[in-house]
This record gives sequence, C-alpha cells and structure tokens, in this order.
Amino acid sequence: MIIFDEKEKIFKIDTENTSYVMGVIDEKYLVHIYYGKKLSGTHLAYLLDMDKEELSEIHINYGEKSSFLDRLPMEYPTSGMGDFRQSCIEVAQDIGKYGVELYYDSYEIIDGKPELEGLPSTFGDDVQTLCINLKDDILKLEVELRYSVFAGNDAVMRSAVISNCGDKPLYLDKVLSACVELGYGQNEYITLHGSWARERRIDRQRVGFGYHSVESSRGISSHQEHPFMAVVSEGATQETGDVYAMNFVYSGNFVSFIEKSQFGSQRFAMGINPRGFCWKLGAGEKFAAPEVVMVYSDSGLDKMTSTFHDLYREHLIRKSWVYSKRPVLINNWEGTYFDFDEKKIFDIAKEASKHGIEMLVMDDGWFGKRNDDRTSLGDWFVNEEKLKGGLKKLVDNVNSLGMKFGIWFEPEMISPESELYKKHPDWAVHIEGREPGQVRNQLVLDLSRREVIEYVYESVASILRQANIEYVKWDMNRPFTDIGSSELDADRQGEIMHRHTLAVYELQGRLLKEFPYLLLENCSSGGARFDPGMLYFSPQIWCSDDTDAIERLAIQESTALMYPLSVIGAHVSDCPNHTVGRVTPFKTRGIIAMAGTFGYELDVTKIPEEDRDMIASQVETYKKYCPLIQSGDYYRIASYQNNHYFDCYEIVSKDKKEAILVFVQVIAQPNMHSIRVKLKGLENEAKYKINGTEYDADALMNGGFIIKRPWGDFQAELFHIEKIND
Ligand code: GLA
Repeated sequence: MIIFDEKEKIFKIDTENTSYVMGVIDEKYLVHIYYGKKLSGTHLAYLLDMDKEELSEIHINYGEKSSFLDRLPMEYPTSGMGDFRQSCIEVAQDIGKYGVELYYDSYEIIDGKPELEGLPSTFGDDVQTLCINLKDDILKLEVELRYSVFAGNDAVMRSAVISNCGDKPLYLDKVLSACVELGYGQNEYITLHGSWARERRIDRQRVGFGYHSVESSRGISSHQEHPFMAVVSEGATQETGDVYAMNFVYSGNFVSFIEKSQFGSQRFAMGINPRGFCWKLGAGEKFAAPEVVMVYSDSGLDKMTSTFHDLYREHLIRKSWVYSKRPVLINNWEGTYFDFDEKKIFDIAKEASKHGIEMLVMDDGWFGKRNDDRTSLGDWFVNEEKLKGGLKKLVDNVNSLGMKFGIWFEPEMISPESELYKKHPDWAVHIEGREPGQVRNQLVLDLSRREVIEYVYESVASILRQANIEYVKWDMNRPFTDIGSSELDADRQGEIMHRHTLAVYELQGRLLKEFPYLLLENCSSGGARFDPGMLYFSPQIWCSDDTDAIERLAIQESTALMYPLSVIGAHVSDCPNHTVGRVTPFKTRGIIAMAGTFGYELDVTKIPEEDRDMIASQVETYKKYCPLIQSGDYYRIASYQNNHYFDCYEIVSKDKKEAILVFVQVIAQPNMHSIRVKLKGLENEAKYKINGTEYDADALMNGGFIIKRPWGDFQAELFHIEKIND
C-alpha cells in the first residue's frame, strides 16, 4: 500500500514486511526518511530531527547552503549545488556544464505499473506505483521517480524517467535509477566478482568511509562484477541481520556504490555506469533509466533470496516458461567443439534419445565457413559441406527420434574474416582511423544502426523459419572496445553502448513475437550477461563455461542468491573436466546440475558405459523433482566456500509437503564420521520421512538431520524429504 500523509508531508510505501518512507522539506527537497521493517503509523517526519539545526537553516540562511545540502538524506541527489557526495544525475547544456537542483513538484499514486519504454521490467497485476515529479526550472528538466510494489512481495521497484521540457537539447552525463540513504550503522557490503569460467564469487567487505563501488564498462553486465550489491548489518548471516540489496534489470554497463559520508550516513545507489555514457536528450524527449529491484530483509540473506526468487518467478520471467518443465537437453559444444558434421550430430541425438534426453542443441560451427573461432560470425547461412542435406533435413531427422532441436547464434558479432565484413566493414563498432581491437577474433556489430538491427533480425529469423527449431542459445562473446559508430553524430557517440543494449532487447522481443513457442537461453562466454534484463526474455541463462561440478557449487551458490534455480543453465559434462581437469563421479555431476536447468554437454557416444548407464535414471530423477526445483524455496545450509569441506542446500515446496536436501562432500576429512545439518523451512509441527525414517520437523530444524560422511572427495547425496499426512 502506498500513501501520502498530508499532515506529516510524507510518502509511505508499505509491503507485507517493509516500509519505505520519504518526506518533503521546505516544500523543496525530497528526502529519504526510513527504509526497513514495517512501521505501523505515519508519525515519522520527526526522524529528520537529528539534522534539525542544519535543516531549519534552509528557510533563513542560504549563506551556508552546502552545509545542509551536503548532509540532507537526498532521495535523488544531484550534483554541483553543494551536496558533494555521489550524485544520481548530471546534466549539461550545449553551452557547457550546469549543476542540477531538483525541487519537489507533485505526485501521483496509480494502480498498475507503467512500462519503461524499450526496457525490460517487472510486470503483473495487483501492483501500485508512486510517481514523484521533481523539477529543475532553470534547466527545464523533469525527473519522475517511480516506486512500484506488487501485492505479496517485499521488493520495491525503482526507476527514473527524465524529460527535457525546454527547447534546447540536454546532455545526460549520468542518470542513475535508484538511491537510498542508509542510516548510520556499522555495515558490510556484499558484491559478486569473477572472471571467465569463475563467475560471481561472493566478496564481503566492511563499509569504511568514502566511496566503494562495482561496475561494468564492458557493454555487458560482465564476468568481472555483477549488477548486485547488498549492504548488510555487521555480521549478518543467512538467518539474521538487516539486508538491503539492489539488483539491476539491465544488461549493459552499470555502477553500484555505497558511500559513507563525513557524518557516517551511507548512500547506496545503482544505475547505468556514467563512464563513457552521454545521452543527448532533444527538446520534448524522455529518457528512461532501467529498473532497480530493491529488497530489504530483517532476517538475513535467506529472506532476501526468497523475495528475489518469488519476484522474478512471478513478475519477470515469461509466464509460458516460468514453471513449465524445460526439455532435458544435450549440447554438443564440449563433446565436439567445431569438429562435427550432420552424422555426428545425429549420432549424438540418437544415443541421447535412448537415455531419455529430450532435445539436441547444435552449438557453434554450423554456419559460414566456421571450423574454428576465426571466421564467419555474421554469415548466418548453413554450411552445407558440414551439414550435408541442409538444416531442415537434420532437424527433421532429430525430430523423428522424438527429440526437439535447438541451435546456437552469436548475432551481435562480426568476424573480420567473413562475407559480411567484406561488404560492410563500417558495420563494426570502431573509431574512424583506428584499427579496431579484436577479442576472440571478432568485432561487435554496430547496433546503433537501424539497417544492422534489421540484418541481424532477418539472419536469425530466416534460419528459424527454415526448420522446426524450438530453442535458441543467444551468445555474446566479447566486451566492447574502440567504441565509435560511423553513423552517429559526434555528440551521440556516448549513446552507443546503451543503444546496443536496447537493440538486443528489441531483437529478442521481436523474435519472441514471431516465434512465441521459442525457448531462449541467453549466454555470454558463460555467464557474462546473467542479469534480470536478460531473464525478462530468456527463462534460462547459461551460468558459466566452467562445467566442473565442484567449481559450479560456488558459482551456483552465488547465482542463486537472487536468481531462482529454474533459470540457472547447468550441464553434466565429461571428465577430466575441460576447464580445470578435475575428475568427479558422474553421480555428483548429475546431482549438482539438478540445481539448475538440467542438461548434458558431452559426446554421449564416447563417455564410459557406466556413466552412460546412469543418464536415464538421472533424467528420471530430475523430471520427478523438477516442479519442486522450479517453484520451491531455496535455502543455503552450508557453503564449502566458508567451511572448506562440504556444501549443503535444501529446496522446500511452497506447501511444505516435500523437500530435497543436497549434501556434497568436497574434501573428505579423516576421522569424521557423520554430521548434523539443520534443515530449514519445514512445517514446524509436522512429521517428515527421510529414507523411510520418521522425524519431527522441529527436531530436524533445530537438532538436525544426521548425514554419514561419504568415503572420498567430491561425493554427493540427494535426500528426498516428505511430509507425513496427519
Ligand atoms: C561461448 C559459450 C559456450 C559455447 C561457445 C561457442 O564461450 O559460453 O557455451 O557456446 O561460446 O563458441
């Protein structure tokens, strides 16, 4: 529920368990008052009194303007006027830079949630939105801050829409989407860092004085840092402590920061990375800043996780896919790399179909002259020397086995060695006069050009029109460098990367309109574009090129901090693992891949027979538990990142009638016979059965469940927990 209290002059946004409160000071400044556990009343403006002396000066003393501006808990801070902390917005006019000062103008509370033009965002019924308008009359600039809440979920969705109400262009150098002032406590911040094949490792630091940030300027959300930050009270755990988190519904450059001021207050914000960004906003035009999802939990990370999972399942992922069982797939990438022909693909499909696998995905190498990664991106025509008889014949043959067919594309790219580049060298992102730098022997297509967007669309769509293709893996394998477009004017070059992201959204949106049945899986050298923006289009995202089961424990743990298991692409691959050389039991690989969209990535005709013989039962197990994995509540019980020896997690159905518990012994310990793990999320007074034995729920949750330590490293066990009907 959202209200404006006339007497107190406050806005109060209530969700089931949280309140978010803002006020207007001096009829001018929109300030933040409170965010946290739900408050019953509206007598809250007094919370600003700690700064009263300074704030009351506003009326009488502009001789010390910056002493209050630099202290005010601004809701959408601006720059250049006396608040020296980080701002949310910076704007220049064509005659030079100007400070921005936004004054409160008006508000509206609406039932529903306006779309953000061209951008993915959460959607659904039973939602309220507060729009607050701020104005800078000198710049003729309007900012509409939006706050939406869905009934039954604690997240607050934030965005800002900037309008140029004047008659001259404005240059937006910085437009963040959300900012919140977080009191004065001792806090820590959690961020996710990584690299190729090592995505999203959890990092936790104390919030010291000054500015602490994560960002991407690579044009994608990136392997290196993630558009997520959680500020937590010191020592917060899975079950205890305050957690304030932000996650960005955007797939390009981002920044998120926490800044502790001279007074100890902490400003927490997120938005498009201003580095390299400048958007020319013509007279009468609007700019929409992408959505930030903001979550507060008063009881640790578990509750934060469940709020994100429920929100994304109910309000971000396409309804047709969110809870439907995805086909168990086999992808040929690690099985064959570029070395395949139609016979090899069919042989893999044939063998896989015997073991219950439901879809064959043909990865990179089927088009142009692509026999390695040096050529042909952009030449999206079938290589009939490799696939004799053509694509349709192969797809029909695979379909005749009762299997679906999926295919790989990397549509945003162009290889310098390609037919396309010969014809259109200027279609690559480049700076006039400079030889553009290659990554993986490829360049990025300039999607700020309309003709390039149309070419890309037709390339992908015409392949999909040729045959019964039901799945697309949409890959993106390099960051942006040499950022320039031969088409855009000089004062628009700072728009290139945002335009690229918008174009990717447009392309994927159009594709899903023409092929509504399509299962889209996004990918970016593994998980370099694993973000809520992509989730809006694709209900699953390839999580990492590292398919080693043990490495995956860490990657999947952090990914599941906010993303539901149903979106995490996870495959069983062959050993020794191609990334780390580790050998793990096939059983372990299967159990760990089940905490995601289960599939295989190997040459099933070549793996050891005893492994192959396990596939059918793994597929059966996955199918049996799939509804629970997709819709249940996920709980982290132990992490080998912390204890060095074992991992343990649990998924409990919403009705608490069943659960699965996964225990993975990463490293065996001598003379350690068994361990008690405390289960979570069961119905307190109920009884449950595990492996034929009955237990009281409160005993399992407080005393624990005893797991006998397995023999050897890399051993996994999956336990099914079933409620006994009374
Ligand atoms: C990327 C993907 C892989 C695979 C290769 C193909 O690295 O992450 O899964 O598709 O490209 O070139």
